[in-house]
Amino acid sequence: MAFLAFEGLDGSGKSTLIKNLELHLKQAGISFIQTREPGGTDLGEELRQIILKDQDPAPCAKAELLLYEAIRAQHVEVKIKPNLEKGIWVISDRFTASSIAFQSGGRKIIQEEIEWLNNFATSNLSPDLTVLLDISYEDSQKRMLNNNRDTKDRIEKECESFHKGVRQSYLAQAKGKDDWLVLDACKSEDELASELFTSLIQKGFLS
Ligand code: TYD
Repeated sequence: MAFLAFEGLDGSGKSTLIKNLELHLKQAGISFIQTREPGGTDLGEELRQIILKDQDPAPCAKAELLLYEAIRAQHVEVKIKPNLEKGIWVISDRFTASSIAFQSGGRKIIQEEIEWLNNFATSNLSPDLTVLLDISYEDSQKRMLNNNRDTKDRIEKECESFHKGVRQSYLAQAKGKDDWLVLDACKSEDELASELFTSLIQKGFLS
């Protein structure tokens, strides 16, 4: 059983890699759930709408962070922990690293304060592996255009320096950590899936 989180800039290709992992797990007869942040529970999905919609004034940086953390606390309590306790894999599209990347790397809230809140919200639960799909700001923007993503949410509309800060934070978080896997998002779908499966085998999660 494993708890995996997928991270990256918007447009990094998380959904495609998660889809390929799910196909692989199904074929191997492994039980899993796929979930996401912001979201994952009824409360979380409602708060997701509130966080991402355009509003004036927009939530201030601290309010935004606390909303993501509220979503996370509920997500861990009612969905992630109960499934892990039953031996079911949990695959989450974004988790704690997103708050550090976006609210510290992007919004410039002090990282240690977010780490404290992450630990509080999760009761210190961390993923067995965080998979970062690393992509440059320029390439992520191109991908979103190609995917006809003409409706950007409030966070996606942030400026270039915000997103560059997010990427730098992700890379800094991953540096030297055994429980992170950094993949080059520009590689092909098949290459990315194969690198992920190899890592899961090496770490003993898959045979
Ligand atoms: P996501 O669901 O990945 O967006 P989409 O479905 O449009 O690809 O995430 C929504 C946005 O929320 C994304 O821009 C990243 C942001 N986010 C944070 O700023 N902090 C967080 O803690 C999380 C989980 C997400």
